Amino acid sequence: MANRVDKAVSTVKGGAKQMGQAVRGRFGIYSTLSKEHGQVSGLMTRLASTDSDEADRREELFAEIQDELTAHSEIEDAVFYAELSRHAQVKEKIGHARTEHEEIKTLLEELSTMDISHQSWMNKFLKLKETVQHHVDEEESEIFPLAEEVLSRKDAERLDEEFLARRGRS
Ligand SMILES: [Fe+2]
Ligand SMILES: [Fe+2]
Repeated sequence: MANRVDKAVSTVKGGAKQMGQAVRGRFGIYSTLSKEHGQVSGLMTRLASTDSDEADRREELFAEIQDELTAHSEIEDAVFYAELSRHAQVKEKIGHARTEHEEIKTLLEELSTMDISHQSWMNKFLKLKETVQHHVDEEESEIFPLAEEVLSRKDAERLDEEFLARRGRS
């Protein structure tokens, strides 16, 4: 699938609207958001492979995941979703994405009150991992292509600057 998409991208050279999904993550806000999705996914995979006797390692990774997910979601909402929700054709998807941000927030809160060395903690963490993965997949495969239709390249660059500034990364 990836190869087919790459070939299609090199043929189309980022032109057609229907290639929105394939060209996602190549510039501006799409690139930054995708990069952060990949980073948090890597952290979650590392945590998922820890053992119950590695409580310190789990605490350390969970703190990082919690910080990254919280900041990413809040700023993504304030910068990217806020702009997109002004466009009727994306509004519904943004409402759905915001509900998922709430679910992620609730799971993070629940996890932070539980015993990190218990299997029940890991089960809930795996639920969080799955929820985040599902959310990220929808964001990149459904929201990004719609965003590319309603936002110009300049908009995407401006939103990226705003996102990075709020993230303290500009
Ligand atoms: Fe995101
Ligand atoms: Fe999101």
